[in-house]
Amino acid sequence: SLPVPSVQEIVRNDANNVPKRYIKNLEDRPLSSERLPLLLDIPIINLSLLTNGDEEERRRLDIACKEWGFFQIINHGADEVLPKMKAAVAAFFELPLCEKMKYRMAANDIQGYGQFYVVSDEQKLDWSDSMLLMTMPSYIRNMKYWPIAIPGFKEALEEYSIELERITYEIFGNLSSLMGMERGVLKELHGIMKLGMRMNYYPTCSQPDLVLGISPHSDSSSITLLVQDDDLTALQIKHKEEWVSVKPVPNAIVVNIGDVVEAWSNGLYESIEHRALINEKKPRISVATFVIPGDDVALNPLETMVDENHRPRIYKNDVKYVEYLRHTLAKKMDGKATNLE
Ligand code: SIN
Ligand code: FE2
Repeated sequence: SLPVPSVQEIVRNDANNVPKRYIKNLEDRPLSSERLPLLLDIPIINLSLLTNGDEEERRRLDIACKEWGFFQIINHGADEVLPKMKAAVAAFFELPLCEKMKYRMAANDIQGYGQFYVVSDEQKLDWSDSMLLMTMPSYIRNMKYWPIAIPGFKEALEEYSIELERITYEIFGNLSSLMGMERGVLKELHGIMKLGMRMNYYPTCSQPDLVLGISPHSDSSSITLLVQDDDLTALQIKHKEEWVSVKPVPNAIVVNIGDVVEAWSNGLYESIEHRALINEKKPRISVATFVIPGDDVALNPLETMVDENHRPRIYKNDVKYVEYLRHTLAKKMDGKATNLE
């Protein structure tokens, strides 16, 4: 990815500055009608019911994954660590630019402070800054990118990652059952299951209708777990051809199906396109954690998900995860990445 300026810094220097590189082409801008609150809410799943083996809640999870590809989980048991993690991430973005630059993403790396998917100088940019850290398993961490001078930063990310592993295993257990397999299969299929935490800072913008915080994309994860501010609505998902806003539920974690589970489920659970809008009043922080499989894991539909008469195989190639990722990282974000057919 090419180096880009910090949007946070652009706005700090001049709150009215919207450089040309950030002004989206007309057809890519959010319509003012799409900013209006819609009556639809994405499904809410009670994780503690799933943990207790509740069949009805598992059926609701199945419907959420089939019809939305997005849901919010409550009663997930991570409430205590959420404020600590949010404070640690906020403290990072509050550092002066020269401090943050100590952690900037090296060329050919995906970790650190910087932006992905920037492939040309002409490309329109997103109105956000990001910091990506691999957090699990602990031996893959690259500590040169960790701002450990921030009190509590390392502990907060560590504790949060442990909670997310537990939550992920619970969701995988239920999805495995729903996919007609033993509970442990999805977890095992990952080989080495990794967590990558992407922290996003979305500054305010004096002309929010001209920019996007993050362009439409689908996630190249198996699932993604997102924590966002409770008081700002910005995330939108494509639902039945329309952009639907995800209204934050206090302390909930937003979960979405990524491209890997879409392929494994033979398209039954879809990896949905989403984007983030910008507002002119208040900066926003979100933290998206990607659950990703080992490099050699194949993105083939699982046996139980293929039925030659009713559900023929839609992904035919033996694409390895690492190859697929190389392919998606080499282009700019532009709608759905899945191109496995
Ligand atoms: C993302 O898609 O990674 C971020 C979305 C958000 O900030 O809500
Ligand atoms: Fe995303």
